[in-house]
Amino acid sequence: MQGYLKCLDCGSEYPIQQDIITCPKCGGLLEIIVEPKKDFSFSKLKGKGVWRYRELIAGEYKHIVSLNEGNTPLIASSTNKNLYFKFEGANPTGSFKDRGMTVAISSAKSLNYKVVVAASTGNTAASAAAYASRAGLRSYIVLPKGKVALGKLAQSILYGTTILEVDGSFDVAMNSVMKLYRELKIVYPLNSFNPWRLEGQKTIAFEIVEDIGVPDNVIVPVGNAGNIYAIWKGFVELMNIGVTDKVPRMIGIQAEGAAPIAKALEKGLDKPEFIDSPETVASAIRIGKPVNWKKAIKAIKSSNGFATYVSDSEILEAQKELARREGIGAEPASAASYAGYLKLVNSGKIDKSEKTVLILTGHALKDPDAMIKAESRRILVNPEHINEIILSDLK
Ligand code: F0G
Repeated sequence: MQGYLKCLDCGSEYPIQQDIITCPKCGGLLEIIVEPKKDFSFSKLKGKGVWRYRELIAGEYKHIVSLNEGNTPLIASSTNKNLYFKFEGANPTGSFKDRGMTVAISSAKSLNYKVVVAASTGNTAASAAAYASRAGLRSYIVLPKGKVALGKLAQSILYGTTILEVDGSFDVAMNSVMKLYRELKIVYPLNSFNPWRLEGQKTIAFEIVEDIGVPDNVIVPVGNAGNIYAIWKGFVELMNIGVTDKVPRMIGIQAEGAAPIAKALEKGLDKPEFIDSPETVASAIRIGKPVNWKKAIKAIKSSNGFATYVSDSEILEAQKELARREGIGAEPASAASYAGYLKLVNSGKIDKSEKTVLILTGHALKDPDAMIKAESRRILVNPEHINEIILSDLK
């Protein structure tokens, strides 16, 4: 597929090349601009998941490292026929990261890299560890010590990566990977400042369009801020090739204690006011200095979208409601998009009649400590008397 790379900061352009990650001139974020493809039709595609859309994914792949990621269920709400949940928890390692990781690791493998690295709040780590193992690459992940949900840490251990823990937030870990990438070019970075990862994540948009067409709104939890841009990019590219005629409003949701983008946009600012010590129960999006903020703001503004934030108690309440009303188990960061939806419907910013898709980015099992906070009836019983409990409940 033809196209070019363009720096969001200095505007420099480069030919498509998977080992160019950040702008060689100024270090800025690169966008992958693909040439609109002629004669594209979904009906001609074969296979399922991310690589079904290979002709729309930039880059050349000698080796494809895949765990059949993507093809996740789009679940209609049981209470509102205009509301849908894109359940990314159904990916092989339980989050949307697998979509980006298959493309990034395939790039690393195709370019003959032997070592990959990622900073993470947990999901990128689990995904990177899994795909690196499958590809036979050595992997290092940098985690904020004591701040990663148990399920994610356990996955990373199981997949056999090397875990490097830093004393500090995710942003400290992220900074160390950026520095490593600048100083040690033999290491391929798997974070979302790597635009090739976002090429995989944009397939979320393709699947939504194949299932229900273009919705009015897509609501995405925002942390390091790559995914909202990736999904928007997918919608824009479909419009550019004439498959669709509009792009949904992209709506970003952050957690109140880690909301540099949402707070800036609400104040009418063009640049986030970074936070040194972000805090939220949604550890996946506990990020104070999102590296992709420019891309996220571009996606939100050019789609006529907006961003807002929700409190920890709203997040946990939404997580519980999703599980108990819809039967869907999502981790807290993912439930933030539902909390945001409820808040926006309440305030009248979204109408229930608008077709809205919430991206549920990760599985509830990722964070057992959060699940356990949702109270349930637990009764120590004499096995002889269980029938009495049920019969008394039914009275
Ligand atoms: N939801 C979940 C479950 C995540 O793990 C993340 C990011 C996001 C939402 C936000 O996506 O960063 O593209 O805005 N997790 C990263 C990680 C930071 O390291 O796993 P984003």
